[in-house]
Amino acid sequence: MSAEPVIQARDIVVEYPGHPPLRAVDGVSFDLYPGEVVGLVGESGCGKSTMARVLTGLLKPTAGEVSYLGQPLRPLGIGGRAPELTGIQMVFQDPGSSLNPRRRVGKQIQDGIDTAAKRMACLGQRLSRDDPAPIDPAEWLVRVGMQASDVRRFPHSLSGGQRQRVATARALAARPSVLIGDEPISALDASTQAKVAHLMGKLAVSQGACLLFISHDLSVVRLIADRIMVMYRGRIVERGPTAEIWSEPRHPYTKALLGAIPVPDGAGKLPAVADPGVAYPLEEADRTG
Ligand SMILES: Nc1ncnc2c1ncn2[C@@H]1O[C@H](COP(=O)(O)OP(=O)(O)O)[C@@H](O)[C@H]1O
Ligand SMILES: [Mg+2]
Repeated sequence: MSAEPVIQARDIVVEYPGHPPLRAVDGVSFDLYPGEVVGLVGESGCGKSTMARVLTGLLKPTAGEVSYLGQPLRPLGIGGRAPELTGIQMVFQDPGSSLNPRRRVGKQIQDGIDTAAKRMACLGQRLSRDDPAPIDPAEWLVRVGMQASDVRRFPHSLSGGQRQRVATARALAARPSVLIGDEPISALDASTQAKVAHLMGKLAVSQGACLLFISHDLSVVRLIADRIMVMYRGRIVERGPTAEIWSEPRHPYTKALLGAIPVPDGAGKLPAVADPGVAYPLEEADRTG
């Protein structure tokens, strides 16, 4: 792991307007490093997607600051996204809505390749000659486990898993230093979920990027994440290496999430949801001892 974080989030607070305002993120801090897979888990409504939007610069936090490669992240303003921010890419839950239904798959992956070229030109950088990433959409498709000939297909002719592979290829073709997957496997059937999750982790890490993998399902996250952050009511209540969180959870909410994971029975797994009737502590569990 490199010593320089790609992302530093400090004391992020997000309030949505209302009476009273809704505090969706309540003082979240963390660093993300190149080449690691970090899982952000917690039940629906705990603030995961809000946090993801802050990290991409799509949403300005009410308080706190995000740095990207050591510079304060400039949130989306007039004129759109700053070119350097294309180094942060996202894959969303529903590839049906993030892929353009009217454009062939190959063209959409080419968009990602062009995005990388534009950013490099803007920053005065070039890819090194021994850079291993494909420069051709067909090669990207092969890399995500599809056929080179699929470049000519349209998204509607693909399965959900294939669409998510294409979305991953497009995002990684933009050569991000951070890939954020916001519930990227939640719409897939159980047998496909782990395969796509593994693929995202492997490819992101192989090109030196960090993958922030967001999910409500700890049982899938633990398959790919080096470390896990558990989010509850806008806060991170526990964080640590995956194996330790899995084998020795300390926060009552993490314990409840783990306890709610049913034993796989061949019929798939239910998403983990802690008992909604219980109010868990909001303090982060101490894992130093
Ligand atoms: N644009 C918005 N306006 C108002 N409230 C929102 C908005 N987006 C999300 N929320 C609320 O903020 C909280 C966190 O939402 P979200 O970040 O989507 O959580 P998650 O991704 O973990 O399900 C929820 O209570 C949700 O209803
Ligand atoms: Mg969400």
